[in-house]
Amino acid sequence: MSIMYRYPQLYDLLVRIVHGRSLKKRFEVIAQEIGENKKVFELGCGTAMVYPFLHRGSKYEGWDLNENFLAMARKRADAVKVFNKNIFDFDSYPDNDVILICDVLHHIIPNHPKLVEEALKRTKKLIISEPARSFKPPKILFPIVRLFTNILGDYDGINDSSHTLEWDYNKEKLQSFFQSMGCSKTITVGWDMIAVFDSNCI
Ligand SMILES: C[S@@+](CC[C@H](N)C(=O)[O-])C[C@H]1O[C@@H](n2cnc3c(N)ncnc32)[C@H](O)[C@@H]1O
Repeated sequence: MSIMYRYPQLYDLLVRIVHGRSLKKRFEVIAQEIGENKKVFELGCGTAMVYPFLHRGSKYEGWDLNENFLAMARKRADAVKVFNKNIFDFDSYPDNDVILICDVLHHIIPNHPKLVEEALKRTKKLIISEPARSFKPPKILFPIVRLFTNILGDYDGINDSSHTLEWDYNKEKLQSFFQSMGCSKTITVGWDMIAVFDSNCI
């Protein structure tokens, strides 16, 4: 796992620096799409950064396999319920109104369509936020970029970082992927694309 996945405070700081003002906007849009008094289930919740933006009547549960991140998530508020569980353990998903998947698909490539497909079967509304940009380095630089990723970058210690580096979803490709899975609308915030799958529209 890279340094930023070892130290949750560092992860939060880097995410804030990299996304700048659009991070707050992203979470506000997500919270608005979720609505009031909902049971929210976040897959790959990390440090539960979204939690402070949710409506106060929300119930929140998150799953992640990074225990350092979960410890920080628990410090955010007593009401944050997070568990060390694999997001591919589909049959154990709790009852929920909304499933949220934020910045996770590019980690789990090539299994991202399976996660979306199974999440859709287990919720009324699915919200996904994902960076609309290509991470794919030129082949010749791949070993160097991978080394950098493993030490300082996006290597979460769970998924193969060479797969993560294969993520080449620019805006058009990401939008067409979401549409192929039945998404009812997309919203662009900074370089992130937020996709909303509403069971009324699927
Ligand atoms: C880039 S972080 C996103 C964290 C959080 N959603 C956010 O927006 O800040 C990706 C997260 O997915 C988690 N993750 C990756 N594969 C997972 C799996 N199979 N089961 C549970 N968590 C996983 C990682 O541990 C990491 O915390």
